[in-house]
Amino acid sequence: MASSTATERSPTKTDTSERVTHEAPAKRPAAKKAPVAKKSPVAKKAPPVKKARAAKKALTARTADKHILYQMSVQAPAADSRAYARWFKKYTGRDLRAWREDFCGTSVLSCHHLLNHKDNTAVGVDFHRPTLDWGIKNNVNELLDDEQKKRLTLIESDVLKVTAPKVDCVLALNFSYQVFNTRQTLGKYFKQVYKSLKPGGVFYLDALGGPDVMQAKTDRTKHKGFTYHWEQRSFDPISHRFVCAIHFSFPDGTMKKNAFIYDWRMWTLPELLELMVEAGFDDAHVMWEGTDKETMSGNGIFRRKDVGDMDEAWISMVVGRKK
Ligand SMILES: C[S@@+](CC[C@H](N)C(=O)[O-])C[C@H]1O[C@@H](n2cnc3c(N)ncnc32)[C@H](O)[C@@H]1O
Repeated sequence: MASSTATERSPTKTDTSERVTHEAPAKRPAAKKAPVAKKSPVAKKAPPVKKARAAKKALTARTADKHILYQMSVQAPAADSRAYARWFKKYTGRDLRAWREDFCGTSVLSCHHLLNHKDNTAVGVDFHRPTLDWGIKNNVNELLDDEQKKRLTLIESDVLKVTAPKVDCVLALNFSYQVFNTRQTLGKYFKQVYKSLKPGGVFYLDALGGPDVMQAKTDRTKHKGFTYHWEQRSFDPISHRFVCAIHFSFPDGTMKKNAFIYDWRMWTLPELLELMVEAGFDDAHVMWEGTDKETMSGNGIFRRKDVGDMDEAWISMVVGRKK
């Protein structure tokens, strides 16, 4: 249960906080100010490879590459990879060397983990061959030298089937595990992650919620040369089926509609914590995002909390440790 696992935690861990970047939605506390479209402060500091090249062109729906636009809109891999390493160090007292990124997509986050230290290794798992190939061409080959590439293993597979090699940390980010829409399947995934970890290993996944996220709406964020659209298409309160999509529009009026579509189950935090405990995880807990007093939006800083806030929209990290 969420409450019982939370009370097991060490009091020394309560100051664990860091900034990370997420796909959606904007955190919106229950306040009177107008909602601010999500954009983590770290995203501005860490443009992905190709940003400069892509931004110079006059982008149109025909010429723009959806993976580049995605990386520019929702990922800040340099800063985020370092943030996970710092979290891990604070939490375990050890350096994060061997990690696995499930649902790795274009592998850009794992590339940055490899750039961060000569002894770092990364395993990326994704079952979509074209996305893995795009990542090899545009991220792996652009960012890594031959030695760094040797420390990367990309596995084309369903994450439900992978338990080796054993790693210090597994990451499941940008809510991708929400493709699993039954308790049985998500529970199976968590058990596979547990088996994949070395003793003392840590599992990080992100979660979202709040009444704002359950409404049909589209948030738009302007970038240089294009606009990112996050559409919450439908939410079913009975099944928690949550369908959302990413579109990109361009100054010439063209639009890349449905560049990415997600058909997810929006899992609640107590469900995620309970499933982690059932899978064998110890010290399952939540890191809650703080609020920027100026913008009344999320500040990208996550701290361990037992009780959350009644935010209109929130993002949090769920953490479990293998004994
Ligand atoms: C939203 S993208 C996430 C990309 C990246 N992790 C990020 O943080 O932005 C989701 C990825 O998960 C992959 N995926 C979905 N279900 C999967 C499964 N069961 N096993 C492996 N990969 C899966 C898709 O192919 C896609 O590349």
